[in-house]
Amino acid sequence: MKGKEVIVGVTGGIAAYKTAELVRLLVREDILVRVAMTFSATQFVTPLTFEALSGNRVVHDMFGQEGTVMDHIRWGQDSDLIIIAPATANFIGKMAHGIGDDFLSTCVIAATARILVCPSMNTRMFTNPAVQQNLELLRKRGVTVLEPGRGELACGTEGPGRLPEPEEIFEQASILLSGQDLSGLKILVTAGPTMEPIDPVRYITNRSSGKMGFAIARAAVRRGAEVILVSGPTSLQAPQGATFCPVKTAEDMERSVFENLTGCDIIIKAAAVSDYRPRECADQKIKKGPELLSLELVRNPDILTRLGETKKESPCILVGFAAETEDLLANAEKKLRSKNLDMIVANDVSRKDAGFETDTNMVKFIYRDGHVEDSPLMTKDDVAGLVLDRARALREAGLDRRSGN
Ligand code: CTP
Repeated sequence: MKGKEVIVGVTGGIAAYKTAELVRLLVREDILVRVAMTFSATQFVTPLTFEALSGNRVVHDMFGQEGTVMDHIRWGQDSDLIIIAPATANFIGKMAHGIGDDFLSTCVIAATARILVCPSMNTRMFTNPAVQQNLELLRKRGVTVLEPGRGELACGTEGPGRLPEPEEIFEQASILLSGQDLSGLKILVTAGPTMEPIDPVRYITNRSSGKMGFAIARAAVRRGAEVILVSGPTSLQAPQGATFCPVKTAEDMERSVFENLTGCDIIIKAAAVSDYRPRECADQKIKKGPELLSLELVRNPDILTRLGETKKESPCILVGFAAETEDLLANAEKKLRSKNLDMIVANDVSRKDAGFETDTNMVKFIYRDGHVEDSPLMTKDDVAGLVLDRARALREAGLDRRSGN
């Protein structure tokens, strides 16, 4: 989303303080953010707050000194998205009826950008037929309305009307900012480590944080795919919009993957699956005993190999990850062939800035024809975007081959 331009329109509701966090989330993604406030909004939060967070001047007075004469026309035409958060009943009414009596309402009328409205108000106001009809009018005109949350409101009542959390608004904005190039595709992603129990209190696991797989699932949702995320235990929050299947052991993961396999167009196996598990899980905690204790391990199923075997002529694209500490290329290539994959993403997990637990990664994409593509050190979100680009291209090439183009 780097380089996109977003206008954040703040109107006069108590939830305006939450919009400060939304601006921070957008700026963190290198999005250019411009903030416009209504007069009422400035009574709740000062323009200075948004100026500091966005790094840009905030316009709150149509005839003030903050902007240039044509900003109310240009802003909505130069940007990719306008987010109105919080959107009051009054502002929603003005939008629905084409009233432009201040900078923000005029900007919205002149806009060509997509618009996301996040209503926030007292429950009785929100459920009032006038407000509901105005929202319906906006939806019919292509405006996206993010349903408010339910819960305790600032006015002391309970019900719908709460401004969704900034992260939720950000996710919805990300979907609107991303091209929906994966829409219609079903993508299954595995992530995280597996956990193989030794006894009721101990287990074998690995250092995988799940960050790479979660980044892929999140990016795929934003780009319009139907996403199934099968993940071992992590501390991460499941991406909104993905079907989340939490698992513990490799055998659980295998079961969940095969249960969700029907209709998949792309499978991306970013999970670090434990190759072995204890032969038996003791019923009770194993007590301290002799100096030397041996644990007998048995092989876990190789989920990706099984998927590769069942693939045959299916158009489903199979992408694996190879975590290596030596001979990166040779080892990854061997896995690509033995597991019958379309592509393998190789990463050197001995590096401090790549692989497990980091926010960055540096990978090589290896294809069946022997072609190798190097990526520079990137954030896992950027790597996720590339993995999806490459998988989509492979799928399209496969479909072309099948149809003889
Ligand atoms: N994988 C799997 N099931 C396993 C082991 C691995 O599905 N039991 C998948 C991983 O999700 C990954 C790929 O196979 O996409 C490669 O995993 P990796 O741990 O790098 O290699 P292994 O096949 O386990 O081989 P080795 O441990 O010997 O390097």
